[in-house]
Amino acid sequence: MPRTNRQWSLARTPRGRLTTDDLALVESPIPQIGPNEILVRNTWLSIDPSIRIRLSSTTPLGYLPPIRPGEPLVGLALGTVIDTRNPDFAVGDLVSHIFGFRDYAVIGTRADTIGGYGLPTRIDTRGMPPQWYLGPLGSSGLTAYAALTEVLQLRQEDTVWVSAAAGGVGAIAAQIAKLRGATVLGSAGRADKVEFLRQELGIAAFDYHDPTLHESLAELAPDGIDAYFDNVGGDHLAAAMDNLRPRGRIAVCGAVSGYDGAPHSGNPDLFQIVSKELRIQGFRAGSYNHLEGSMRQEVGGYLTAGDMVYHETIFDDLTQAPTALLAMLAGKTIGKTLCRLTSE
Ligand SMILES: NC(=O)c1ccc[n+]([C@@H]2O[C@H](COP(=O)([O-])OP(=O)(O)OC[C@H]3O[C@@H](n4cnc5c(N)ncnc54)[C@H](OP(=O)(O)O)[C@@H]3O)[C@@H](O)[C@H]2O)c1
Repeated sequence: MPRTNRQWSLARTPRGRLTTDDLALVESPIPQIGPNEILVRNTWLSIDPSIRIRLSSTTPLGYLPPIRPGEPLVGLALGTVIDTRNPDFAVGDLVSHIFGFRDYAVIGTRADTIGGYGLPTRIDTRGMPPQWYLGPLGSSGLTAYAALTEVLQLRQEDTVWVSAAAGGVGAIAAQIAKLRGATVLGSAGRADKVEFLRQELGIAAFDYHDPTLHESLAELAPDGIDAYFDNVGGDHLAAAMDNLRPRGRIAVCGAVSGYDGAPHSGNPDLFQIVSKELRIQGFRAGSYNHLEGSMRQEVGGYLTAGDMVYHETIFDDLTQAPTALLAMLAGKTIGKTLCRLTSE
């Protein structure tokens, strides 16, 4: 075990795309805990695009505040309790929480979260690999499940388009939709990802660069789509609106095309919300924590039966966390992107 604590913090607010020089690894003594706190040795870090939003100088209204230069990064993580002054946690417990990007985390009963997702929670892995509780049985699974079940209210007869479908959330959403009987189209930004979607997940798929979003959608869904699972925003959202059938539905999960310093491309024709009576709903997984049990039952069932493919891109060691984040934002990873923090 490390004898000091290493922690990634923001060195300077990025100008344009995030670079590794914008982040700094700071070393300090292993922290002591106070009343009602636990000390956790982190083991897995979830690499999520949303941290990039908080590294900008301002964040959207309603979102968490920016992280300022000198402040530590946060992110969903798993770890083992190694000291406790909180009667609800014992040494040896596996917990998920939001204080990632560091070796050791001191966790009280409060944390900056949206909707409570990321508060310290004990995990019983039930024999599954622990990191799955950051992926299909954790935040990615809940996000996909809540959007399909509650937001889109997906029906068997629907044709649904999932963008960033070869990513952590997208690959799970695409497969849940397919396993529930819907017709699924997935898009991704590289030929190997499109192959992954076609060969491994068994869905119709296209590269959004080739030839164009509109041409690809026209070819794969000539009669239009009923539902759109939006991970990307910008030109993808505009193309979805143009291709939705009357009374189509959109679940706005994220808008990753605008996170890393690039302006959104594409200009959705919003009047189509009126003319086609579209329903557009943004959502945050943290508002659907009550669905975690049913999600784990359904998704866990698919995984155990071998009906769901779960792909991870794993980077080793905390030192690789910025590299992992940059790779994921640039579309260089497939499936869930993770950083393994310990080899034990
Ligand atoms: N609402 C919620 O509660 C919630 C919770 C978790 C995640 N999310 C959102 O869900 C989305 C997916 O998150 P994730 O963790 O699963 O990440 P991910 O999909 O594993 O990784 C992000 C992917 O976005 C794609 N991308 C990046 N820039 C793009 C661009 N300009 N145009 C099109 N695609 C682009 C890249 O794939 P390509 O190679 O295909 O371009 C990249 O691999 C994000 O928008 C995230 O913010 C929302």
